[in-house]
Amino acid sequence: MVIPTSMPVVDEEMEKEVLRVLREEFFVGGKSVEKFEEEFAEYIGVDYAVAVSSGTDALVIALRCLGIKGKVIAPPMTFVATIESIVLAGAKPKFADIDADTWNIDPKEIEKAIDKDVEAIMPVHLYGLPCEMKEIMDIAEEKGLYVIEDCAQAHGAIYDNKKVGSIGDIGCFSFYSTKNMTVGGNGGMITTNDKKVAEMAKLLREHGGSNFAEYIGYNARMNTMNAAFGRVQLKRLDEWNKRRKELAKMYHELLGGIDKIKLPIIDERHVYHLFVIEAEDRDGLREYLRSKEIFCGIHYPVAIHELKPYREYAEKNYPNSEHHAKTCLSLPMYPTLSDEELKMVCDEIRKFYGE
Ligand SMILES: Cc1ncc(COP(=O)(O)O)c(C=O)c1O
Repeated sequence: MVIPTSMPVVDEEMEKEVLRVLREEFFVGGKSVEKFEEEFAEYIGVDYAVAVSSGTDALVIALRCLGIKGKVIAPPMTFVATIESIVLAGAKPKFADIDADTWNIDPKEIEKAIDKDVEAIMPVHLYGLPCEMKEIMDIAEEKGLYVIEDCAQAHGAIYDNKKVGSIGDIGCFSFYSTKNMTVGGNGGMITTNDKKVAEMAKLLREHGGSNFAEYIGYNARMNTMNAAFGRVQLKRLDEWNKRRKELAKMYHELLGGIDKIKLPIIDERHVYHLFVIEAEDRDGLREYLRSKEIFCGIHYPVAIHELKPYREYAEKNYPNSEHHAKTCLSLPMYPTLSDEELKMVCDEIRKFYGE
């Protein structure tokens, strides 16, 4: 039996909706995209949602909408697109290390990173756990900084009665295939309460206003079939997140007490996009599990400031991110993972460590 790291769910209603809009609509944009935007905005609890063609586009467009050209504080432990988007938008990343236990950007490090050129903070709700948004919003307010939440891994996560994506100035989501919800391909969403941002985002995603261009924009429109698929996925999201939380609790019960591994924190706010541990002999464990047809991921093997295109932005070492990159391992986590499969994974991990 093969157990992958993650697996999207495709059901009959999704297939039916995709075929229906293929026949009835015009492939790009249109009614299904508008409905998806309305439903997503309502779900997140914001006034506006603007659908785009990827999470990366969402981040680039968000930065452009706020006119950010200076420095943006972001963590070095994230998917490369977070930092890439800052450079693509014409701004500069400024790294702030993660906390050693939550693996999210550390507000104390944000405070230390602030200088006169910093214009925004881009917290990443890594693996599905919301960042310490109260502290981050307090810092932003005090220093007059924008906050763009990278919510690519945290659809539906709630912090202090608010969904992530509704707390900062703008929220950016990815619907890439492995996310907690997908559009059956690439896709992204920008969420905001700012009407001007929403209007500009709509222009930027379509060549800055197309034949009447007001800006130099992008071709970042969402395909109609992706929106149709995403609308059905959105209806399932809460139920899937509930299952992810159950699986995370089981992992905790079954892996507790192994001193060679560190488990992620158990937190009601966490939606466990990934179930990441820090492991001694991480690569050995991964190889051993692979030999048993259990496939684990590494998110992420190199901290971004150590990657060639981004080294120039590193001002020092970021030890928590560097340590995490060397030890992190993403265990199988998806809503259709069965209790038995999860137990097999845990048994094999115990065997590997001779427990
Ligand atoms: C934290 C983070 N930010 C940004 C992105 C970029 O999203 P996309 O792949 O849809 O461009 C992703 C996912 O891929 C991500 O995990």
